Amino acid sequence: MSKIPPRFITLEGIDGCGKSTQARLLSEFLLGRGINTELTREPGGTRIGKAIRQVLQNPENQEMIPETELLLYLADRLQHLQEKVVPALAEGTWVISDRFHDSTVAYQGGGRNLDLAFLDSIVREKIQPFQPDKTFVLLLSPEIALERLRQREANGGVGLSRLDLESVKFFQRVDLSFRELLRREPKRCAPIDASQSIEKIQHQIQSQLPADWLL
Ligand code: TMP
Repeated sequence: MSKIPPRFITLEGIDGCGKSTQARLLSEFLLGRGINTELTREPGGTRIGKAIRQVLQNPENQEMIPETELLLYLADRLQHLQEKVVPALAEGTWVISDRFHDSTVAYQGGGRNLDLAFLDSIVREKIQPFQPDKTFVLLLSPEIALERLRQREANGGVGLSRLDLESVKFFQRVDLSFRELLRREPKRCAPIDASQSIEKIQHQIQSQLPADWLL
């Protein structure tokens, strides 16, 4: 197995942008290069996280207030970091996570318009030390992304989750917030045009991995 230091890579984007497929393809690519890789996700990357995910996704939970939602995502993240991400990196395994903290900033901060300032100390102490080395932000128009989700459900695929039932306006705010992230952190975050074919999107992702990571 490779001697290259392990990297923490995250994929972000609105629902329906195709990032789960891309995360899987990226992990297969890295495994093919002999790099030990763990593919994981938020919410739901741990046993406890799976239970939290069910509560968050269940469309019946309409009475959930935005602060409950926020703290459940955070609880999932802290469990995931300590139980899975940190131990994997410590043993030299690369970690690819389908979503991480940028999703909270975009969905709960941007989409729900919550002031996240009260989380500052917990974010600074418990999350920022594990900032991803690279984040791919898949960009797709919210109208197209929502149409894809509806088609998927109509074709008998995954049903719509509690968040998927939000308005186009909600996803426009989330999309805007991801675009702001790209402006704020151009070194860590790379924009990916998610309107292309699966192969072309994966090519964009692989070509933006720093060359010295794969030596
Ligand atoms: P997924 O289906 O891409 O795994 O994402 C689950 C849903 O949770 C998706 O609608 C985005 C949302 N989400 C947040 O609102 N905040 C977060 O911090 C995370 C990680 C996900």
